[in-house]
Amino acid sequence: MINNKILNICCIGAGYVGGPTMAVIAKNCPDLILNVVDINEERINLWNSEDLSNLPIFEPGLSQIISQVRNKNLFFSSNIKKAIKNADMIFLSVNTPIKEKGIGAGYASDLRWVESCAREINENAVGHTIVVEKSTLPVKTAKTIQEILNVSNNSDRSFSVLSNPEFLAEGTAINDLENPDRVLIGGDDHKAMLLLKKIYLNWLPEEKIIFTNLWSSELSKLTANAFLAQRISSINSISAICESTGADIKEVSNAIGKDKRIGEEFLNSGPGFGGSCFKKDILNLVYLARFYRLNEVADYWENVIKINSWQNNRVYETIVKKLFGNVVDKKIAILGFSFKKNTNDTRESPSINICKNLIHDGAFLNIHDFKVSKDTISKDLSSKNESRWSFQENVYDAFEDTHAAVLLTEWELYVNIDWEEVLNKVKKPFWIFDTRSILNPKVFDNLEINFWQIGFGSNK
Ligand code: UDX
Ligand code: ADP
Repeated sequence: MINNKILNICCIGAGYVGGPTMAVIAKNCPDLILNVVDINEERINLWNSEDLSNLPIFEPGLSQIISQVRNKNLFFSSNIKKAIKNADMIFLSVNTPIKEKGIGAGYASDLRWVESCAREINENAVGHTIVVEKSTLPVKTAKTIQEILNVSNNSDRSFSVLSNPEFLAEGTAINDLENPDRVLIGGDDHKAMLLLKKIYLNWLPEEKIIFTNLWSSELSKLTANAFLAQRISSINSISAICESTGADIKEVSNAIGKDKRIGEEFLNSGPGFGGSCFKKDILNLVYLARFYRLNEVADYWENVIKINSWQNNRVYETIVKKLFGNVVDKKIAILGFSFKKNTNDTRESPSINICKNLIHDGAFLNIHDFKVSKDTISKDLSSKNESRWSFQENVYDAFEDTHAAVLLTEWELYVNIDWEEVLNKVKKPFWIFDTRSILNPKVFDNLEINFWQIGFGSNK
């Protein structure tokens, strides 16, 4: 019953995972037809826009690939039924946020979008279809999908379910997809696994492709994200000790990172991790552990999130303390709103909480970012705060009449700011809070600027 060759692929969900992943597959597999579909028509229209600067997500290198493959073998549309019907293989790349109500609220993933996709597939698929979980999902989600699909497993329609979690990081997605450390394929249908593997072999060596069972694959994705987040909470906890003792977190990171067992990456202290995955995946892990009555395990991982919130609040409290404990009607420049550089994504961005807290305390914010739109910031800060901030297109305008600037996203262009020019626009005493440790403290030695840096904290 199973096809011997994959010719037509459908990807449900045209977001940060589905869009770049299918673009890279399309580029490396010119013989495949890929249809990326989404219920959000506006998003699909943006993917199809002629002006490539209007693509719905900003990702370095993405627009070049889209211009190469779009409408050749990569198509964006809202015709979900048709794309499912024609597909030999369907990737699920829909959103799976944390549940807001009901059992597991605040911890478990809301699987309503995954479930509705499974039902849509069940109703429209023809012949044998391989369904591949791409979005990060709680362990055992494949079972739910299988159960919905098995209802119609009969002689003229059948399914195999695989897990193929995505490890790309936003901002470096194209490189992560072109040169991944590994590709994980979990399943129990060996033939289907080989067919998926064959797609990746178009650009990757065999040794990078790992086969596991379904549950190991799902759990590996959660575990990888939990370990990465834990590293950030670990280094952030040490940043506070550095500030109290006079050590420098960059020197400590460099010194420990030289130990091969620790490694150099992911040791940058900051205002706390953001993004759509880390918090959600740890909460899922915590939920899973509590479900199996592994309370010590659950508490252990939950502390990674607690440290993250603590670090974020610590930054906000430091800003207020340094500004004489009072920010009422003080103007503050906010440099960066995305959760990291090189993306326009603001999901769980540490900037959101810090801005909300400062506004709540009475400050007025001039917000600048190189890629995040005013609309997105508006949604994130909620309408009741609308009169307490302004959106600044030009970074120098953001400093006008401000008492302080808070650098929250590590956009490299902030490193090149001409601080002498800034000094002409601001109120004195003026503070800079560098929460990403990207500015060189020496630059401020001969300027009338007070400088605070995470994990360093020296006021010259
Ligand atoms: C993450 C995982 O890296 C990726 O493998 C998975 O597929 C999805 O989740 P992403 O959230 O896109 O990717 O970005 P990542 O680079 O991991 O950064 C997450 C957050 O941690 C950002 O807010 C970033 O600024 C922060 N971070 C990262 C630090 O504070 N310090 C670091 O050293 C690294
Ligand atoms: P991710 O970062 O995981 O890619 P996004 O939120 O960026 O998450 O993208 C998920 C996409 O999935 C959204 O564009 C959303 O509209 C789409 N989506 C959710 N449910 C469905 C569905 N049942 N059918 C088609 N698309 C869906």
